[in-house]
Amino acid sequence: MLAFNFTLFLPKFFDLNILQYQSDFLSYLESQKMVREPKNLYLPIEYILQLGGKRIRPILTLIAADVFSGDYKKALPTALAVEVFHNFTLVHDDIMDDAPLRRGKETVHEKWDLNTGILSGDAMLILAYQYFENYPPHIFQKLAKLFSKTALEVCDGQQLDIDFETRNDVTIEEYIKMITLKTSVLVAAALKMGAIISEADEEQAQHLYNYGLNLGIAFQLQDDYLDTFGDPETFGKQVGGDIIENKKTYLYLKTLEVANEEDRNLLVKLYNEEPKNINKKISEVSSIFKRNNITQHTKQLIEYYTNKSFESLDYLTIPKEAKEGLRAFGENLMSRKV
Ligand code: IPE
Ligand code: IPE
Ligand code: MG
Ligand code: MG
Ligand code: MG
Repeated sequence: MLAFNFTLFLPKFFDLNILQYQSDFLSYLESQKMVREPKNLYLPIEYILQLGGKRIRPILTLIAADVFSGDYKKALPTALAVEVFHNFTLVHDDIMDDAPLRRGKETVHEKWDLNTGILSGDAMLILAYQYFENYPPHIFQKLAKLFSKTALEVCDGQQLDIDFETRNDVTIEEYIKMITLKTSVLVAAALKMGAIISEADEEQAQHLYNYGLNLGIAFQLQDDYLDTFGDPETFGKQVGGDIIENKKTYLYLKTLEVANEEDRNLLVKLYNEEPKNINKKISEVSSIFKRNNITQHTKQLIEYYTNKSFESLDYLTIPKEAKEGLRAFGENLMSRKV
């Protein structure tokens, strides 16, 4: 796994800690036999799942189940469903974003080919659903309903993300809506699914969902920031990838709002012409971002959404230590480097 350690800052959740959730999740993942015939379909699935990643979403599912019932192990199949689905979205996202690197290694469509990426991704979406068969019908129905709604929203968000690449009139409001769909709803649903398995009260489950929704926005803002300003040695993805793809990130949109006319015109021009030299485009765009204090602006908005997520915690009738743990989780995400 890349260098990212929640346990440095986190207090224990009851008698457990994040490291325990993580290790139980990994053991459960290991116990699943992903590879079967035809190997060319299943090897890429094992490949991407074994590449690691932060495992944030499955951990959130386990935390949610734990805070509402104290029994998180029964949430393991759902935690895996969420992670398999997330990895499916990454395989297809890397095709759509023409990304060469994922978690420091070749992306599936680069290592194999486009058709493999498409079909292995499709299979992952179906495998994810199958994990819900581990639950009794009344739980299965709730999980499947939330999952279907979420998966469709992710598609909506991904389409908007692609549409925005060729639009020059995207607003910050539209951007927030887009990242809510492509990223936050899954973070929120991961939490709510844990609550569903623990048969938590619907209103309580919804407050946890809202915590995840705002945390997810902060998470994607940080992802966008790292895409341009992350350390290529540790980030695990191609730094500058969003600039190459003309992504209308907050960095881009906020710069257009605060920059003078000269920088505005230059930025729009760089995003609308065929670059002669990709690295030059990346360095010019980053310089425009930097001289317009985009780091500070982005950090401010990340803090705003993280704090907004904490407001939902006030409505939760869970032990104080659990709230503190969820707060620490959010604060930790804000300072992540991968
Ligand atoms: C990447 O998610 C895709 C986004 C929604 C930003 P993560 O940053 O959680 O990726 P991994 O699973 O840790 O690699
Ligand atoms: C991805 O957003 C969201 C989904 C995978 C649904 P990004 O395209 O920014 O994710 P990364 O940066 O490639 O991980
Ligand atoms: Mg991408
Ligand atoms: Mg993308
Ligand atoms: Mg990104």
